[in-house]
Amino acid sequence: MPFILEGLQRLEYRGYDSAGIAVADNGVVARCRAAGKLANLAAALQRTPLPGVLALGHTRWATHGKPSEENAHPHCDCSGQLVVVHNGIIENYFALKESLARQGHQFASETDTEVLAHLIEEKIKGLKSAGPAAAPDLTEPLLFEAVRLALGDVSGAYALAVLWSKAPGVIVAAKTASPLIIGLGDGENFLASDVPAFLAHTRKAVFMEDGEMAVVKADSCRFFSLAGKRIEKPVTNIQWDRTMAEKGGYRHFMLKEIYEQPTACEDTMRGRFFPLQDDGVLLRDAGLDAQTLRQARQFHLIACGTAYHAALVGKYWLEAMTGVAAHTEAASEFRYRESTVGKGDLVLAISQSGETADTLAAVRQAQKKGAKVLSICNTVEAAIPRAADFNLYTHCGLELGVASTKAFIGQLTALAVFSLHAAVVRGRMSESAAREFVEELVRMPGAIRAALKLDDQIQELARKFRKKEHFLFIGRHVNYPIALEGALKLKEISYVHAEGYAAGEMKHGPIALIDEDVAVLAIATRSQTFEKMASNCQEAKARGAQVIAITTQGDPPLPGADFRLELPAVPELLAPLVNVVPLQLFAYHISDLRGCDVDQPRNLAKSVTVE
Ligand code: AGP
Repeated sequence: MPFILEGLQRLEYRGYDSAGIAVADNGVVARCRAAGKLANLAAALQRTPLPGVLALGHTRWATHGKPSEENAHPHCDCSGQLVVVHNGIIENYFALKESLARQGHQFASETDTEVLAHLIEEKIKGLKSAGPAAAPDLTEPLLFEAVRLALGDVSGAYALAVLWSKAPGVIVAAKTASPLIIGLGDGENFLASDVPAFLAHTRKAVFMEDGEMAVVKADSCRFFSLAGKRIEKPVTNIQWDRTMAEKGGYRHFMLKEIYEQPTACEDTMRGRFFPLQDDGVLLRDAGLDAQTLRQARQFHLIACGTAYHAALVGKYWLEAMTGVAAHTEAASEFRYRESTVGKGDLVLAISQSGETADTLAAVRQAQKKGAKVLSICNTVEAAIPRAADFNLYTHCGLELGVASTKAFIGQLTALAVFSLHAAVVRGRMSESAAREFVEELVRMPGAIRAALKLDDQIQELARKFRKKEHFLFIGRHVNYPIALEGALKLKEISYVHAEGYAAGEMKHGPIALIDEDVAVLAIATRSQTFEKMASNCQEAKARGAQVIAITTQGDPPLPGADFRLELPAVPELLAPLVNVVPLQLFAYHISDLRGCDVDQPRNLAKSVTVE
């Protein structure tokens, strides 16, 4: 078993709140699972070693169900002899679970993964009862066919591996939307979510694509489409060392996480749209009753740092879509102020770590005053979600870079989906308008991908500006918070003086700062305030500043801009999801060029648990 534990240790950077192993030996599958760090699993295995060389291991970053032993993977079917490990989100797991329960299945966990194990078991039963014509006589093809049929009932994201005591020597795997890589060894083969897990054993890897399956044995590996058709796959020779592999080949975790933003957006909205009405999937997911949402007197969005900037964007969305007042405040201020929050208010506490002391204190303060609290958090069962009344988790995966990027996109996505549900439940948005909004929102990951294509151009710009010591970021309306976020990114990882301002405020003082030592980043994408932003650029240029404008492809030229970064056209209200990307990349490249520690900038911590 050491090679599985070692592989899991290599994946701990992807998140860990519980872990487990299942081993097939002599026709029996045995499991060992433990909550907490991997060391707890290792200790459990010391006490009860599991013999055998065919095994599945999993280190969990919870999305559904709290971190606990019973929620730890691998999960099994009723027999306990068919086990599954899974990375991803099964969107329709609730409906599948209800249907399986009606067929007599009993569940031991809150996870979507356990539903998969029982679904496969049901498919095996179905194939066997359909007689020899349908059920392959060998258990290996029977297992393959049962997994393939089960995935036909599933919607969502998965990288999964299945082991069954009755199909000795074989693992059946499948991939859609979550990463799955096969390591081809000498007389041994490996499956993993990421290369570091098996890099010590082999550098030959097959990167599976969406809609593919694999049948993996010690001495063979065959690939199939979900339709069951055999396919050939190229083998890649991995050149990375282990550290590079943990960063997916990127120089820093921050850059890797910037590139993971389309997936963070997709995974956070996945399965959270329809039905939108009172029993909407989002409300059930958050544990929020429609009455609380419908009767909320006002919203209060409370957070710190980058999460506070997400709250500022959320204000525009909630007020525009629900017509209800949405107040925003830095948690460090809210907790000491005699605020008007009270009974009937809904407080949204936004936090990537879920451990920020000021935000936690603000949650408790709001509850003391009679308000209900919904947390928007990326860490299941952290202190803030545990204290909150309702929880809407972002599904961004572990964010290691101290500078928050993909978690910010996850927070915006969760706020957009929440605003949509609030608008529909409060009768402020029709079903057809809601569907239109969803269609626009599901296009955002693609727009973020398009923005990432500007990386080389932005790196070039960063070279030109790497010695600049003063930056002003300006934006209007929903882009004002993005100006603040762009400035925060630059200052926290490059130690450069950078300020974000509402562009309309420039003439009330800040414009006095502008001269040839100042660079101005203007967010001038397509919007009702485009002309005003164009004037801001000219005013800055006229005073000697160098101006970088973030604009929309196809929009009129901006005479006051020295440089333009052109983004795809997106609906004005949703533009923050895309406009932040070039600013993140700009901050990253300036920091890297200045030789700063991008992932662990000086004086900062990933989670500020002190006051
Ligand atoms: C953002 O890049 C910083 N790391 C910091 O401002 C962070 O957003 C803030 O400390 C809040 O953290 P949280 O989201 O974990 O509560």
